Amino acid sequence: MYAVFVCVGVFAFANGYVNIALYKQAYQHNSEAGDTFNASNAVDGRKSNLSVDGGQCAVSYWGKKTATWWVNLYSIHSIHHIAIYFMTNNQPLGPSNLLTKYILGFSVYVSNTTDRLQGTLCYKDDNFTLFTMPAVFTTTCPVHGQYVIYYNERRQGVTNPDDYSKYVFTGLCEVEVYGCPATGYFGSNCSVPCPDVNCQYCHIETGTCQGCKPGYQGHRCELGKAAYVQL
Ligand SMILES: *[C@@H]1O[C@H](CO)[C@@H](O)[C@H](O)[C@H]1NC(C)=O
Ligand SMILES: *[C@@H]1O[C@H](CO)[C@@H](O)[C@H](O)[C@H]1NC(C)=O
Ligand SMILES: *[C@@H]1O[C@H](CO)[C@@H](O)[C@H](O)[C@H]1NC(C)=O
Ligand SMILES: *[C@@H]1O[C@H](CO)[C@@H](O)[C@H](O)[C@H]1NC(C)=O
Repeated sequence: MYAVFVCVGVFAFANGYVNIALYKQAYQHNSEAGDTFNASNAVDGRKSNLSVDGGQCAVSYWGKKTATWWVNLYSIHSIHHIAIYFMTNNQPLGPSNLLTKYILGFSVYVSNTTDRLQGTLCYKDDNFTLFTMPAVFTTTCPVHGQYVIYYNERRQGVTNPDDYSKYVFTGLCEVEVYGCPATGYFGSNCSVPCPDVNCQYCHIETGTCQGCKPGYQGHRCELGKAAYVQL
């Protein structure tokens, strides 16, 4: 019996953060009907064929000025980092890959709604070039939210660097969102309860409370509703 518990403990410890986006509902603007380019291809766990017609990537229409994709985590989750596998046509990204210029300038948000502007901007690319754009991009974003949103745009009247494309599309073969499967816990195994007993959302690395359970207030959620009303 003791041995069984030790095994389970070791297994859970080795697990770390889990990909909480896998098989969840995904959506993209300007999408063609059918499976080949479907938004859900970016959360299906498949990333062995990164070509446009491989059926494993989310691809919105060409010739648009904005590109929007999101995954719905179904409830508010504690997120640690997000990894994006871009569509590459199975070639290295770089100046000779025609897809690279469509990725430049992208941004990643975490929001509690499908509106990116109500959420937290995790990353906005003003750093990469045709030469430095990685095929797999990872950003740390230790916040709570229900939607992870990929966005890119080529606005009229905005002057972009010369290496940027004129139009954008999604081109996401996999978007992995690593975090905790349940709220109220933190730490690299999501196994440590939030230090403040009435805290519902605590920082995934530090445990600092970021949101209390209903009916509680205060920095450490130490104020019950009745007590708070009396103050
Ligand atoms: C994408 O796939 C999902 C489930 O596989 C399906 O419900 C949805 O209609 C598809 N979307 C499009 C635009 O075809
Ligand atoms: C990717 O899929 C396409 C379309 O089915 C196919 O032609 C190509 O050989 C595949 N490439 C790889 C590396 O699997
Ligand atoms: C989502 O809601 C939770 C609970 O109110 C809050 O703690 C969190 O900051 C919100 N997330 C974003 C990205 O606004
Ligand atoms: C900026 O680009 C360089 C490669 O040129 C990369 O090493 C670095 O991580 C990037 N910084 C950010 C914040 O993305």
